[in-house]
Amino acid sequence: MFFLKKNRWVWIAIFLSVGSRSTLAFHKDMYEPRVPKAIIAQEQQVQSPYPVTPERIEAGRKIYFGVGFCVTCHSKDGTGVNLPGHPSRDFTDVKWQKLRTDGELMWVLKNGSPGTGMPIRVGTDINEEDGWNVIQFIRTFEGK
Ligand code: HEC
Repeated sequence: MFFLKKNRWVWIAIFLSVGSRSTLAFHKDMYEPRVPKAIIAQEQQVQSPYPVTPERIEAGRKIYFGVGFCVTCHSKDGTGVNLPGHPSRDFTDVKWQKLRTDGELMWVLKNGSPGTGMPIRVGTDINEEDGWNVIQFIRTFEGK
């Protein structure tokens, strides 16, 4: 019995290491755009109709920790929860923050990131204004 139990953990360990190595091959580099090539130029130009204000950042923070469920996968400090399968994003990464326009982030909120756990958020649990507010909040993680 003891031997069987020990063996089970060995198999689980083998399964996990093979699993993570094979899924790694399918992970797009985090800096690669998520918006499809055909529409990226136009999506990058899309801008928030709202000015950046402390009130909107605060509203975004409430969405992030509340109805948006962002914190479940993206964690309190924005570095991301270690999800099985595809990892979430490290919002503190300065290079990533500089590369992405607000328009691209809005596209991801409206479409999800196909092939990953990133779900459609705008139009489901939150509306477009909430989306722009939560983007303002995500920007505050840069460099933290
Ligand atoms: C069920 C888990 C989950 C939830 C809930 C979730 N995300 Fe994500 N998110 C992910 C994963 C996984 C990725 C990485 C996707 C990728 O690499 O393409 C991601 C990526 C992102 C990105 C980066 C996209 C890019 O262009 O690099 C943004 C922005 C984002 N999420 C915002 C949010 C916001 C805002 C919320 C809440 C309103 C949210 N997410 C809720 C799992 C989640």
